[in-house]
Amino acid sequence: MKSSKQFSLRKNNSFNVKSTSPIVYFPQTLSDLESLPDLSLNPFYILGEGSNTLFVDTQAPIIIKPDFKGIDISETADNYFVRAGAGENWHNLVCLCINNGVYGLENLALIPGSIGASPVQNIGAYGVELSNFCVEVTWFDFSSRTVKTLDSQECCFSYRDSIFKNAFLNKGVITEVVLKLSKKWQANLSYSGLNELPSDANAKEVMDKVISLRQAKLPDPDQLPNAGSFFKNPVVSVEKLASLKTIYPEIPFYSQDNGNVKLAAGWLIEQTGLKGYRKSQVGVHENQALVLVNHESDYGKDILGLAQFVQQEVHKKFEILLSPEVRMITSQGERQFIDLPMVDWDK
Ligand code: EPU
Repeated sequence: MKSSKQFSLRKNNSFNVKSTSPIVYFPQTLSDLESLPDLSLNPFYILGEGSNTLFVDTQAPIIIKPDFKGIDISETADNYFVRAGAGENWHNLVCLCINNGVYGLENLALIPGSIGASPVQNIGAYGVELSNFCVEVTWFDFSSRTVKTLDSQECCFSYRDSIFKNAFLNKGVITEVVLKLSKKWQANLSYSGLNELPSDANAKEVMDKVISLRQAKLPDPDQLPNAGSFFKNPVVSVEKLASLKTIYPEIPFYSQDNGNVKLAAGWLIEQTGLKGYRKSQVGVHENQALVLVNHESDYGKDILGLAQFVQQEVHKKFEILLSPEVRMITSQGERQFIDLPMVDWDK
C-alpha cells in the first residue's frame, strides 16, 4: 500500500495550517486495508480532503487517507443507484450526476470534501442532507477485518452527525457510499435564496443557483483558507427561543420535528459584533460570521484560540454554548473542543 513518512499535511487541510504526520497510509483496495498495521494502541485519524478538520498542533497523529476510486451508476424502473468510492470528490460526483440526467444532489453542489466524509457528518445544505439519498455505506471494520454494509437506519443520521462520529469512531474505514436518486425528480426550492427561482427550474439551474449563493457568502478555501461553517447551528427549547424573542424579535429560527428550534449560529456570532473581526492573522469572515478564516497564520492554535473566544462571547451574550462542526485533531488524536486547553487570547 502507498504510504509516506513525515508527511506535510499543509495541502491536506483547508485551513492551510502546518502539521506533519509521522506516517500517512493511502489504502486503495481491501487488501490494502487488511495489511494496515494494528493501530489500536496509537492515536490516528481518518482524513478525507481535510475540509472539516483543524490540525491544532504542528505534529499530527498517524493518518489513514482512503483513496478508493470509482463511480458506477445503475438504474431500475424508478430509481438511479450511484455507487462511489470514498476517495472520490463530492462536488465532482454532483456534477457528473447532473450532466448524466441523474437529479437530486443539486442542492448539495460545491460542498468541499470527499465521498467517504459525506456520511460521517451527514453533509447538508439548502434544505437537503445526504441522509435523504444515502441507502448504503460500505465500511471496513478494523477488529473483524471484514467489510460490512450499513443501511441508512444503521448509519443513525441526524443533523451533522452519524454513527461514524460516535459508536464507530476510529473503529473502521468507509470505502464506498451508495445513493438512491428517484427518477421522479422534483426541485427542492424551500430554502431562502432558492425560492427566487421559477417553480419549473431544472436541476442544472438549481445547481447553478446553489453555486452562486455559496460563492457569494462562503470564501473559497483556495483564496482564503477556511472550513465552511465552524460551529453547528445550536438547537434550543421553545422556552429559550421565547425568552430570546423578547429581546431580539427578529431572531431567525427553524422549528424541528421534536418540538425544539434550531438557531442560526452565524446570526448569534454577528450579534456579538465579531463579524469581520481579525487578530493574530485569523478572523471571522465578513460575509458569513459562522466561517472562521485563516488570513495568514501557520498555526492551528490561532484558529483554536479564535474559536474559543467566539464561543465565549456568544455564551456571554446568549447563554448558548456553540459546539464546533469542525473536528479537532491534536498530535495525540482527536479531542473534544471543550477538552482542549484554553489558548491565551486578548481581545
Ligand atoms: N446570518 C446572519 N449573519 C451571518 C450569517 C448568517 O445573520 O453572518 C443569518 C442569515 O441571515 C440567515 C441565517 O443566519 O437568516 C442562516 O444563514 P445561512 O442561510 O447562511 O445558513 P447557515 O445556517 O449559517 C447552514 C449550514 C451551511 C449551509 C447553509 C445553507 C450549518 C452549520 N451550516 O449555514 O453549511 O451551506 O446552511 O444551507 O448547518 C457547512 O456545514 O460547512 C456549511 C457551509
